[in-house]
Amino acid sequence: MLCLGIESSCDETALALVQDGRLVDAVLSSQAETHALFGGVVPELASREHYRYLGALFDELMHRSGTSTQAIDYIAVARGPGLLGSLLVGVAFAKGLALGLGKPLLGINHLHAHLFAIGLEHPLRLPAIGLLVSGGHTNIYRLEKPWQCHQLGRTLDDAAGEAFDKVGKILGLEYPGGKIMDALARCGRADTVPFPHPYLDNDNLDFSFSGLKTAAATYITDHLHNLTWPRPLRNVQDAPKQLCDCCASFNLAIVETLCCKVQRALANNPDIHTLILAGGVASNTLLRERITRLMEQYGGTAMLPSPQLCTDNAAMVAYLGWLLGENGYAHGLEMEAIPRGRAIPEDMLCCTA
Ligand code: KG4
Ligand code: ZN
Repeated sequence: MLCLGIESSCDETALALVQDGRLVDAVLSSQAETHALFGGVVPELASREHYRYLGALFDELMHRSGTSTQAIDYIAVARGPGLLGSLLVGVAFAKGLALGLGKPLLGINHLHAHLFAIGLEHPLRLPAIGLLVSGGHTNIYRLEKPWQCHQLGRTLDDAAGEAFDKVGKILGLEYPGGKIMDALARCGRADTVPFPHPYLDNDNLDFSFSGLKTAAATYITDHLHNLTWPRPLRNVQDAPKQLCDCCASFNLAIVETLCCKVQRALANNPDIHTLILAGGVASNTLLRERITRLMEQYGGTAMLPSPQLCTDNAAMVAYLGWLLGENGYAHGLEMEAIPRGRAIPEDMLCCTA
């Protein structure tokens, strides 16, 4: 069966085709350069860009893959969380196709799509603990089935990626800062600045990174203000040692905090021996190393998607849509886009139940 996936929740316009659990083809238009001018995503610009490119990208995908629209069995679209205007563009497009072609519509939780994306590269092992670390979310889940994901913890304020991006902005690094801070961290010493490992003195699985962000901002103002480096910094070789050390120490504080809560989740769920890492921050070099080591010590398996599958993409939407479609799930045309901050309802119908 063939599933079309549509992703437009933030600043990537993307479509993909997944057939029987395998990626057929994908197209993507990134708005990163547009938003980099403003140091963050501008919602109105984002929805206009989706509106401008979605139709042309769909035509390109169909043409390039030699697929006729009638061959599509399911139409999956990221329904939230995300920017409302951006989501609406994708959801309206998906509804139009579903109505026109008479095919089932699946409104996909963008966060769940990140978590199950690994299934495109390796056989899914469930149940699993899922750690989703992106620009907008830092959540821990118990994943039973593609349609049964229990959230165990979440961030109370900034997400891990958001903390990277905000500190990156203070350092004058190009937005989003996570990737370059990872590269700078690899050139520095992580034991230089004793940044706090936040919100560990409790027994829950929630996160709070805003205090760490403030500690980094204070350190930068107090200790790095006399340093100069090319802005924007394009080459890590041009970075002074103190900048690399600061990034390495900040990176370590985030990674160790994430790993500590993962260990706690595994201890609370002793029947689980698989950890799925997902989201943009899942590309982080140290996080991948530490999670791999942690799972080796635990005698379990770490499932790490390749970097292109970590960031926003439509293959993950098509894949989860395919999994749900094959198991008889579908939405009616009344399915709504759900912006960030509103819970996504469990309103998907299962025809085989
Ligand atoms: O999942 P994603 O592409 O978009 C959201 O749904 O948020 O995640 C983007 C986030 C950004 O905050 C970016 O700085 C961060 O992922 N990121 C990284 C790395 N690569 C991307 N953070 C740390 N290390 C990286 N290598
Ligand atoms: Zn995402």
